Amino acid sequence: MSCIGTCIGESSPTQVAFISKSMPRSGEYVTLEYDGKKVLGMVEGLVRGSPSISGDILDPGIVEKILGFEGEEEQYVRGNVKLLGGVETLEIPRIPPPPGTKIHRADSAVLKKIFGSGTIKLGRLLSHPDVEVFVDGNKMISRHLAILAITGAGKSNTVSIIVDGILKLNGMPVIFDMHSEYASAQFDGVKRISPKLNPIYLSADEFKILVDVGKEAYVQERYLRKAYSAAKEKVREGSKNFITDIISTLEELQASEEDFTQSERNALVGVINKIEDFESKYEGLVNPHVGDILDEFEQGVANVVDLGSVDEDYADVIVSHVLRKILYRRKNKKIPPAFCILEEAHILAPAFRSTLSKYWIDRIAREGRKFGVGLCLVSQRPKSLDPNSLSQANNTIIMRLVEPSDQRHVQQASERLSDDLLSQLTSLNIGEAIVLGLMTKIPALVKIEKFEGKLSGGDPDIIGEWQNASKSSKEKVEKEKKEVDELYGGMV
Ligand SMILES: Nc1ncnc2c1ncn2[C@@H]1O[C@H](COP(=O)(O)OP(=O)(O)OP(=O)(O)O)[C@@H](O)[C@H]1O
Ligand SMILES: [Mg+2]
Repeated sequence: MSCIGTCIGESSPTQVAFISKSMPRSGEYVTLEYDGKKVLGMVEGLVRGSPSISGDILDPGIVEKILGFEGEEEQYVRGNVKLLGGVETLEIPRIPPPPGTKIHRADSAVLKKIFGSGTIKLGRLLSHPDVEVFVDGNKMISRHLAILAITGAGKSNTVSIIVDGILKLNGMPVIFDMHSEYASAQFDGVKRISPKLNPIYLSADEFKILVDVGKEAYVQERYLRKAYSAAKEKVREGSKNFITDIISTLEELQASEEDFTQSERNALVGVINKIEDFESKYEGLVNPHVGDILDEFEQGVANVVDLGSVDEDYADVIVSHVLRKILYRRKNKKIPPAFCILEEAHILAPAFRSTLSKYWIDRIAREGRKFGVGLCLVSQRPKSLDPNSLSQANNTIIMRLVEPSDQRHVQQASERLSDDLLSQLTSLNIGEAIVLGLMTKIPALVKIEKFEGKLSGGDPDIIGEWQNASKSSKEKVEKEKKEVDELYGGMV
C-alpha cells in the first residue's frame, strides 16, 4: 500500500486536508488508519504549488531560474479527502482524523468487498480497473434511476448493460424505445412490441390528445367524450368500425332537432374534422382489432415498445397508457415487478409543459417504490427534464455533461453530487460515469462495460456512407456507358 500524503490542518469527521509530494488522482479511493479503525475516503479538490514560485511573480524568466535551481523538488500537492466511512461498516467515525495521519492508496481487496456485493454489474472502477462494480438491483429499481449525459457519451450502452443484468435476474424491463435502437439488440430474450393501441382500452384523456382537442376546447371535448363512449359501447357489442361509429354519433347529433347555438354547431363540425384528420394520421396504429398492449409484456425478456416511427403526441399517449396500466396492475399484483426505461425523458416529462406521460411518470416516481415499479429516466438535456421526477430518482448515473446549466440542474436534484465530482463531468470519456445513490454503498467513478449485443444507434460512419454512394453512382454511370457502347457498337 503506497502512502500518498499526510493529513494537515483542522479536520472534521467527514473531511480532512492533506499535503503530498506525489500527485494522486481526483476521485481516487484512499484509506486512513486512526482511532483503531481503517477508514475509506475519496480524494477531492487537488491543487499543486511551489513555495518559491508564488502567484505574484510577474517575470517568466524568474520562474525559469527558480526551476533551474531547485527543479520540481520543492513542489507540493494539496487536497481534501472526503471520508466515506469505516472499511467494514461504512459508518462515518465520530472522531476526526488527527493531523499527521498517513493517507494510503486503497487496497483493491477492500474495494472488491464493497463493490462486489450487488446484483447488477455495471463495469469497473476507473481508478482500480481490477475492481468490478456491482449495484444493488432492488434499490436501483425501487428507488428509480436517472442516466444523464450529452449525446454519444454512452447512455444507451449503459441502459443495455442494465437490461442485460436485469434479464440475468429473470426480471421484466420495459424499454420505451424512441429511436428503434433496442429491438434488434441481442439480449437474452427480446420482444418487440408494436405501438398499436386498441381505442377501447384508452382513457378519454388519452384519446383527446390523439384527436388534438385542446385543453380549452370545452365544447368540442364534451361532444368528443359523448361520441367516444358511445363508440366504445358499440365496439363492446361487436362493432368493428370504431372511427365510423364516432363520426356517425357526431353526425346524428348534428342532424338532431336539438337547439344548438352557432358556436356549438361550429364545435361539432370542428370535432368531426379532427376525427377525420386523426383517422388518416394514425391509420393502422389505433386499431379496434388489436389486443390490450399490456398483455404482451413478459417476464424474462426485454420488452421493447418500438416508438421510432410515431410522433411525439402518440408517444406521449402510449407511454402514459402503459405506465398507468403497469401501476394499476402492480397494485392488484397482476403482473411481475417492472423496470420502465424512458429514453428521451425530457420529451415525455418536460420541465415547462404538461403532458400525460409526465403525470404518470411523476406518480410512479412517488408511488412506484411501494408496488415494485421502477423508472429509469434517460436524457441528454437534464435541464429540460421535469425537476420533480428527476429529484425522485434516488440513483444517478452521470456521464460526460458539459453545459453548466445542465450540471447545476443535476446537482440540485442530487444532493450527493459534490462540487468536486461535478467539476469532473466535463473531462469524462465515453463510457465513464459517476455512479451515485442508494444502489451503491459509496459514490464511484466507473468505466461502464461495453454491451457486446450490438446496439444500433451508435456513431454512424457518415463519410464512409457518402463515399460508398458516390462509388456506386460512378459504377452505375460506367455500366450504362458500357451498355450504350455495346448497343451501338461504338457509333455514338
Ligand atoms: N462503455 C463503453 N465502452 C465502449 N464504448 C462505448 C461505451 N459506451 C458507449 N460506447 C460507444 O459510444 C457510442 C455512443 O454510445 P451510446 O449510443 O450509448 O450513446 P448515447 O449517450 O446513448 O447517445 P445518444 O444521446 O445519441 O442516444 C457507441 O458507438 C458505443 O458503442
Ligand atoms: Mg442513446
